[in-house]
Amino acid sequence: MSKKVRAIYPGTFDPPTNGHLDVIARGAKIVDHLVVAILRNASKGTPLFTVAEREEMLREATKGFGNVSVATFDGLLVEFARAQGAKAVIRGIRAVSDYEYEFQMAMMNRKLDPELETLFMMPAEKYTYVSSRLIKGVFQLGGDISSLVPPVVVERLKTKKVIGAAVPGAE
Ligand code: PNS
Repeated sequence: MSKKVRAIYPGTFDPPTNGHLDVIARGAKIVDHLVVAILRNASKGTPLFTVAEREEMLREATKGFGNVSVATFDGLLVEFARAQGAKAVIRGIRAVSDYEYEFQMAMMNRKLDPELETLFMMPAEKYTYVSSRLIKGVFQLGGDISSLVPPVVVERLKTKKVIGAAVPGAE
C-alpha cells in the first residue's frame, strides 16, 4: 500500500508571486497534499500585507488545485510540519545566490528534525528574477507587474498604493 506524502511550502508570501505559484504547481504534482504555510511572526520588517490578506490571496490563487491548502504558522517550521504530519518541506531556488541561505536553513531543519526532508524545486526560468520585494518596489514606482503575480495580487496591490512612498517590508 502506498503512503500518502504531505509536504509544507513555507514562506512569507508578501505578496505571493507567479514564481511561488509555479513552485506550488510543481510541488502539488509530486506530493499527495501540499500545505502552503505563511509565517506569522516574520522578522523581516513590517510586511505590506497582513497575514489575513496573504492567506486570502493564496487561497484565491490556489483554488484550482485539488490537493493544496493554505495555513499560517508561528515558531519553528519543524514543529508545524510535525503537527501537520508532513514528511517534507518544499523550497524554491531561483539562482545560485539563493542556495547558501536555503542550504543553511535545510541543514538547521534537519538538525532539529532528522525525519523531515527538504526538497528544492526550481521555478520556470521566466520567474528566476521575480521576488516579492521587487514586485512591491516596481509596482509602487508605476511598473507593470501584472504578468508576474496572480490577478488577485494586482488588485490587492492597488489598494496599497501610496504615490511616492517607500514600500515597507522585504521579500
Ligand atoms: O519566504 P521566506 O521569507 O524566505 O521564508 C522563510 C521561512 C518562513 C521558510 C523561514 O523563515 C522559517 O521557516 N521560519 C520559521 C522559523 C524556523 O523554523 N527557523 C529555523 C529554521 S532556520
